[in-house]
Amino acid sequence: MSELRHLINITDLSVDEIDHLISIADDIIDNPEAYQEICRHKKLATLFFEPSTRTRLSFTAAMMELGGNVLGFDQAASSSTAKGESVSDTIVMASCYADIIAMRHPKEGAPFVAARHAGVPVINAGDGGHFHPTQTLTDLMTIHRKKGDLGNLTIGLCGDLKFGRTVHSLIEAMIRYKGIRFVMISPVELDLPSYVQEKLNAEGVEWKVVRNLEEAIPELDVLYMTRVQKERFFNEEDYIRLKDSFILRRRMLDSAKDDMIVMHPLPRVNEISVDVDDDPRAAYFYQALMGKYIRMALILFLLGIR
Ligand code: CP
Repeated sequence: MSELRHLINITDLSVDEIDHLISIADDIIDNPEAYQEICRHKKLATLFFEPSTRTRLSFTAAMMELGGNVLGFDQAASSSTAKGESVSDTIVMASCYADIIAMRHPKEGAPFVAARHAGVPVINAGDGGHFHPTQTLTDLMTIHRKKGDLGNLTIGLCGDLKFGRTVHSLIEAMIRYKGIRFVMISPVELDLPSYVQEKLNAEGVEWKVVRNLEEAIPELDVLYMTRVQKERFFNEEDYIRLKDSFILRRRMLDSAKDDMIVMHPLPRVNEISVDVDDDPRAAYFYQALMGKYIRMALILFLLGIR
């Protein structure tokens, strides 16, 4: 019997496996009819203890487009968690009803605990301020489709680099490719956590901090904007003071490379002005679409179907 695989952190996948997932997703885009019955009679449980639009709906759409079914809940309050059930018991239950589980939880490490108790593959759909590996796969798929290569890029990460789990996972993934440089653009209070900075230094990755977004833009191949994570702040005053630190406006793209892409995991609040949406460099809605295809590939991979 093959070993049960989970996706808790993006580093659970080798670079070769990520390349393989991307090639399956490319094939799904080119040949959707070949996949439309491939998960017939398979069930995905979406256990979302925290709000979500894209991740939950794209997982749901992914399983539906593979011909499978979806069950689950979209808030802890509508599950027996509200009556005091533990994560581990919830996961044992979900393993009885589904073939694969996608789980979002506000507590860092909860999906790791879930994976230890699950009888089926567990996918971390975001745990607190920690990791969001399927967003990272979405980001890699987007960069692959738009830039053609996952190496030799200067990537600007802008906004909440402290609490932004998508940023932490993206860094973990990108440092495994050649020729990656990072430009960190954040207020001092929202700098990258020291453990991520230490990792960058230990891996010998070139990175720098710039406090002015306009100053950073001309050298970037990818600008990855993020929202200030209101739900992670202990103090509302600090959130209000920091939330609009960086707002990307259309005129700021005048100094950008013609083929730079603007990414954002979404949801956005204020950090990208809507006048950027029509610019050909705006890739964030395309990115959300890519999330469905790469999650289709991931479901197939973890179920051992391809
Ligand atoms: N990018 C992302 O995780 O969005 P949701 O919170 O809407 O799932």
